[in-house]
Amino acid sequence: MCGIIGYIGNKSAEIESVNLLKNLEYRGYDSAGVAVILDGEIKVTKAEGKIANLEQLIVSTGANIGIAHTRWATHGKPTEVNAHPHISDNNEWAVVHNGIIENFEMLKQEIETNSGVKFASETDTEVIPQMLEYLSTSHQSTISTFIHACNRLKGVFAIACINKNIPDTLFLAKRKSPLYVAINNDEIFVASDPICFVDKANEYYTLEDDEFCKVSLNCVEFYDINGNNIAKSTIDMKDFEQFKGKEQYPHFMLKEINETPTVLNRIMKTYRDSLGFGKITKEVMQDINKIVIVGCGTAYHAGLMGAKYIEKFVRIECNIYIASEFIYSNPIIDKRTLCIFVSQSGETADTLSAQELAKSKGALTVGLTNVLYSVLAKKVDIVLPVCAGPEIAVASTKAYTAQITILYMLARYLQNIKFNSLFDYIAQIDTLANLFTLPNLQPIQDLSKELVNQKSSFFIGKGFDYVSAEEASLKLKEITYINSSAHPAGELKHGFLALIEDGSYLFVIATDEALLDKTLNSAHEAFARGAKVVLITQLDVDTSKTNFVYKVLQQPKFDDELMPIVSIITFQLLSYYTSVAKGINPDQPRNLAKSVTVE
Ligand code: G6P
Repeated sequence: MCGIIGYIGNKSAEIESVNLLKNLEYRGYDSAGVAVILDGEIKVTKAEGKIANLEQLIVSTGANIGIAHTRWATHGKPTEVNAHPHISDNNEWAVVHNGIIENFEMLKQEIETNSGVKFASETDTEVIPQMLEYLSTSHQSTISTFIHACNRLKGVFAIACINKNIPDTLFLAKRKSPLYVAINNDEIFVASDPICFVDKANEYYTLEDDEFCKVSLNCVEFYDINGNNIAKSTIDMKDFEQFKGKEQYPHFMLKEINETPTVLNRIMKTYRDSLGFGKITKEVMQDINKIVIVGCGTAYHAGLMGAKYIEKFVRIECNIYIASEFIYSNPIIDKRTLCIFVSQSGETADTLSAQELAKSKGALTVGLTNVLYSVLAKKVDIVLPVCAGPEIAVASTKAYTAQITILYMLARYLQNIKFNSLFDYIAQIDTLANLFTLPNLQPIQDLSKELVNQKSSFFIGKGFDYVSAEEASLKLKEITYINSSAHPAGELKHGFLALIEDGSYLFVIATDEALLDKTLNSAHEAFARGAKVVLITQLDVDTSKTNFVYKVLQQPKFDDELMPIVSIITFQLLSYYTSVAKGINPDQPRNLAKSVTVE
């Protein structure tokens, strides 16, 4: 949800900033822009759409300081005029911003009334450079103007800004949106994600909420909200060693699906010893009478699966919420509730607010996150690492598989604690990790070609398979724009059948032997109304029961309870190939961002 960059160094600021920006395109791609200081003046270049459009416009001018931005539009349409950077009326300040300024209307009115300045864009962000200009005369130093201006902002922000009269310095501020700084011998990099620093620096600083930074090649200074200097230490880049870009794959999404076996092995290494769930001890669990899981999007689906695992194996009440609903539902939680927040990025605004609420009610908070330097990881009482490695494609794949694997292991771990049992889930997942292979691609690719012209498609399942149906449907929707929906197999008669037309594709997930017959009965009802039934199963189904089935996507055999980890891969691949067949870039589908950092 918007990515920001800052650069100072001996290379071309335009080229370097835009190259760095490409690492942040997963955060939004409605427009992009860059501002540099050249011969004492600010020079801005902007373009609608993806960074590639901006790249065509930029030329290397010899400037060596710049800021850049890739936008996911919230306030104001995704036009060039609304693209960042925004500049002050006197062309002295240029600003890039990730977040939302909630009081911008009020501030805009104050500035326009008192200074006569007219705003050029519809964005909330423009209030920042205009405010900097407005306050410039009343403050002794530039940093104190900057801090004062930021302190007047309500909302969420990561800000990088330049002033044409101080052409060697970047000014940075952070509240709730992420911001990082890395310093090399002769270069400075600022970014919304330290992934930008791979191969550029060995360590980096993290700005915390309401911290400010003034950085030039000679000096880096951090300040608190009152303008007092604060000391900070750096973080090693070693966590990013595994990141190697797209490698031989045409898209990150395909690469990330293919990484599933590696991820499962990494989970095994992390959770094999007590490092994994070690902090959730028997003593801790003795005080817990309820578990609540919260997440958004795919992470919510992982939570749905986790809740089913926990209730099945631990026999403890486990409620699951979409984060934005949780916040406004006055949830019934207290110090006896264990709240698990599932978030790949660890920076989804609603999930973070939900964690704050749970904490304020005294709950024990656990973060299941893939980004160990994220805000969520810092705020929760206990962190469970997802171990998926950087996930760049907007649609989550390997992180989902990892999340449900870890939630399964957690359920088994809690079961052992509660019932003094010794179920060897480690050995079970070890076997899965070692024997796991990706499904045969040919039938999936064939099916994807058939889906290209479909306007809608449907997914059904029972129990765990119903959750897989929800996630499979979301994946298809996100990256192919096919209107898809998921339904519990037993619910078809309560409305859903009205949607079935001749030739509608119905994906039936049936991996639980005990629920197979019931699921097939439901599928038959849809078939009788014209649906083309595609069955996804690892079971040896009697062909007399499946003579109405159009195609079977046979799955490799693992324990039934692990099948959600296995079967979802087929749907991730099906969505991927359908997206590609439709000429869509599956890594960057329309109107989606990987990190939703505003409510
Ligand atoms: C967005 C992304 C999804 C993701 C969801 C939650 O919608 O496009 O892929 O599942 O946010 O993100 P989180 O980082 O909290 O898991």
